[in-house]
Amino acid sequence: MKILVTGGAGFIGSAVVRLAVSRGHEVVNLDALTYAACLDNVAEAAGSNLYSFEQADIRDRARLDEIFSLHRPDVVMHLAAESHVDRSIDGPGDFILTNINGTYNMLEAARAYWVSAGKPAGFRFHHISTDEVFGSLGAEGQFTEETSYDPRSPYSASKAASDHLVRAWHETYGLPVVLTNCSNNYGPYHFPEKLIPVVILNALAGKPLPIYGDGSNVRDWLYVEDHADALLLVVEKGALGRSYNIGGENERSNLQLVQTLCGILDAKRPKASGSYADQITYVTDRPGHDARYAIDPSRIREELGWRPSVTVEQGLEKTVQWYLDNEAWWKPLQARAGVGVRLGVKA
Ligand SMILES: NC(=O)c1ccc[n+]([C@@H]2O[C@H](COP(=O)([O-])OP(=O)(O)OC[C@H]3O[C@@H](n4cnc5c(N)ncnc54)[C@H](O)[C@@H]3O)[C@@H](O)[C@H]2O)c1
Repeated sequence: MKILVTGGAGFIGSAVVRLAVSRGHEVVNLDALTYAACLDNVAEAAGSNLYSFEQADIRDRARLDEIFSLHRPDVVMHLAAESHVDRSIDGPGDFILTNINGTYNMLEAARAYWVSAGKPAGFRFHHISTDEVFGSLGAEGQFTEETSYDPRSPYSASKAASDHLVRAWHETYGLPVVLTNCSNNYGPYHFPEKLIPVVILNALAGKPLPIYGDGSNVRDWLYVEDHADALLLVVEKGALGRSYNIGGENERSNLQLVQTLCGILDAKRPKASGSYADQITYVTDRPGHDARYAIDPSRIREELGWRPSVTVEQGLEKTVQWYLDNEAWWKPLQARAGVGVRLGVKA
């Protein structure tokens, strides 16, 4: 299968690229190389003759048409997006242009190509989205595929808008689409502005471990390589026009998560005295901070037979070890604009 992956130099896209190439798929990685990208993420796939790279911006429709004509993909996996909620609070414009207009361009370029190719039956446009489109849960309940959309940040609103466009292109033009909405990912190559790498790297540097608000916000964590596995399953076996929620059923409050990471670090790289947990510091909360996300993954489990391969404890242990072993990857990224700076408190 020849897969056009957008955002393949980012965190999740690169996991998809690595897994797809390792399984013998041909991959075209389309990425604008924004601040969040790193081509080292795909170094292990880049030497393969199954892999090619196109630096392109999904806001540039003409460039997308060229890439579709040149590579003639069997399927599209669309992950390119602005993805950091804190940045969306300070600068929502890029989120509107990339996540909404960019997805519109991708849909139109894909539709033009699909029509010109004679509407091949196996063609799929797989749109990768987030559970944040469903809004915020109270103490009980889980998001299902039937949960109403209720996005509350510029990031989640832009992703919700893109999901609606994808469904509309299916209903109106018959474009063969599948959608997925996933919970929070973690694992290797996670850009060092997101909570888990920030905590690991600040701990090692002797810096404060920032907890937004009182740390009670709950997220449902999924190991990124398990997400990539689920995405390849959905693009191959998912039913047309259907969406699948993907989650690891691993709810943790932010405080619990940070305490777990500190415990793993205490065991692997003990401090001279005390625990890394002594560095925990409570900071001003994010405006409109969603209280709780939790995914009901029954549909993908029952219809497609998917299950995550690691528990959250195993995945966090692997992740901490990866950061301990890969300073050459994360060190240069810490110098990028906005990394290590508190963003998203101005609203
Ligand atoms: N990280 C999560 O926990 C999570 C959870 C569920 C869903 N998602 C979704 O998965 C996708 C990937 O998320 P991620 O965490 O890997 O993001 P990321 O920020 O790590 O990577 C995004 C990639 O998209 C590229 N990109 C951004 N704007 C572009 C543009 N205009 N044209 C072309 N490329 C562009 C960037 O260069 C980068 O390589 C996103 O659509 C996100 O909404 C993420």
